[in-house]
Amino acid sequence: MEFGFNEEQLMIQDVARRIAREKIAPSAEYHDRTGEFPLENIRVLGENGLMGIEVPTEYGGAGMDPVSYVLAMIEVAAADAAHSTIMSVNNSLFCNGILTHGTEAQKQKYVRAIAEGAEIGAFALTEPQSGSDATAMRCRAVKQADGSFVVNGKKSWITSGPVAKYIVLFAMTDPDKGSRGITAFLVDTAREGFGRGKTEPKLGIRASATCEIEFNDYVVQPDEVLGQEGEGFKIAMGVLDAGRIGIASQAVGIARAAYEATIAYVKERKAFGAPIGTFQMTQAKIADMKCKLDASLLLTLRAAWLKGQGRKFSAEAAMAKLTASESAMWIAHQAVQIHGGMGYSKEMPVERYFRDAKITEIYEGTSEIQRLVIARSETGLR
Ligand code: CAA
Repeated sequence: MEFGFNEEQLMIQDVARRIAREKIAPSAEYHDRTGEFPLENIRVLGENGLMGIEVPTEYGGAGMDPVSYVLAMIEVAAADAAHSTIMSVNNSLFCNGILTHGTEAQKQKYVRAIAEGAEIGAFALTEPQSGSDATAMRCRAVKQADGSFVVNGKKSWITSGPVAKYIVLFAMTDPDKGSRGITAFLVDTAREGFGRGKTEPKLGIRASATCEIEFNDYVVQPDEVLGQEGEGFKIAMGVLDAGRIGIASQAVGIARAAYEATIAYVKERKAFGAPIGTFQMTQAKIADMKCKLDASLLLTLRAAWLKGQGRKFSAEAAMAKLTASESAMWIAHQAVQIHGGMGYSKEMPVERYFRDAKITEIYEGTSEIQRLVIARSETGLR
């Protein structure tokens, strides 16, 4: 058993840490306050290989392994969670599915543009009435005689929707078949028939743009179908398995930032004539924060390692995401509590970590869905 990282992994961690500290952290408060999309920083991340970490170099990526992805995500998330949300959608939700199921031409066209940071990608599964119950989608794609599809319907909560050039879309092609009647498509947002709806005013990750999207007789050509017809649900589930490793990493990054801010504060802040870190009630919190942080990191690295080995990792990714997201929420909560009034103020970043942590328990499968995935895997029961 080996707990160290190899040279490549340490190198990408170092690159991500440098960009996070020099470019992202200094403007994190501004981006949170204004909700402005950090396009310039996203381009820098892309130019440094961080928008397609696991994408082979022949498609414009960094050609690295899932552990490298985890390490880079943690660094970016620790500086600003919103940046890491954009990064995770490009890396995991957009590139991963096309790499696994796309044709050579699709990889060259769509993956390259996103992995190099020239364009932004998105992933459209959720609808206003269908979140956790993904097969209940209503967005409809009807096959035409020439093999093309005409798409009509709405998708909601689309991360990077307001700025995305390309979107991986899931639509119902045969409603009678349920989950086997869903097909994945590649959408160009510049094309007629695509529209954007309301943007979401969010509690946290405010600089990651989120909106509704609409399809009105949008035409998908046969070479824009991703994978086989009817295979869309399995593609979505596979992509989300990998995506959950990214969200677990994001949660670890947020939690680490909250933890480090707390360690600095308990040494400096005095009460009753002593640093508050000398009080046993604070020490108990610190110990529990550290245990949860390391447990989250180890579960996340295990899931990434399994993925890198080509082994099954669905339940392990769910365990990592569940543990890391609930720990991040708990750690950020304790960080606010230990900071007292200062923790409730926008003058300190812990208030932002608290708001940002919450989304990790919701998107890419709620904590309830992660528990369902884990329990089904353990019992074999449905
Ligand atoms: N990989 C491959 N195939 C899978 C799979 C996986 N991980 N999980 C299920 N499948 C297959 C099953 O084997 C089954 O195949 P067959 O038809 O051949 O038997 C099929 O998919 C249907 O599976 P289920 O019967 O298990 O489906 P279900 O309706 O019970 O749903 C679920 C399962 C786990 C609840 C699933 O719907 C789910 O994960 N829901 C949550 C959706 C989610 O995570 N949404 C997040 C939105 S994206 C987002 O958040 C992006 C963002 O903004 C950043």
